[in-house]
Amino acid sequence: MEHDLSKIDQIIDKYKGDEGILIQVLQDVQTEYNWLPEDALAKVCQRLEIPLSQGYSVATFYKAFSLTPRGRHLVSVCLGTACHVRGGPKIMAKVESQLGINDGETTDDLKYSLEKVNCLGCCALGPVIVVDGEAHAKVAVSKVGDLLEAYQ
Ligand code: FES
Repeated sequence: MEHDLSKIDQIIDKYKGDEGILIQVLQDVQTEYNWLPEDALAKVCQRLEIPLSQGYSVATFYKAFSLTPRGRHLVSVCLGTACHVRGGPKIMAKVESQLGINDGETTDDLKYSLEKVNCLGCCALGPVIVVDGEAHAKVAVSKVGDLLEAYQ
């Protein structure tokens, strides 16, 4: 799939003259596309005159970067021990069936990505779901549908 790469020039021009801008540029590119498409990464490396392998090694080193399409909304379901005993697996199963994807996947319309996480540090509030950084505590299976639909 080809992407509109015209924004890449604008992003790089913004940092013109600055040293060591690769990570900052990649962050901006990821913000623009919501992930790092291969053609965008190649264009960044070409413009910065660095090997594509260097771009890949930075993009794969930092967990914040994604080389696969990511949805506009990131849904993280906690399956740490406390959330697990409070019904986390049932919440995960409901989210999976609601979105039609499994852990680590993204919906075809690029609306949602799903990931399981191990403890978000608020165990007393389990089971916990985080959507786009916003935590939802003591989530009931029956509320999962409404909760996700709020992020259309
Ligand atoms: S186990 Fe889920 S927040 Fe700690």
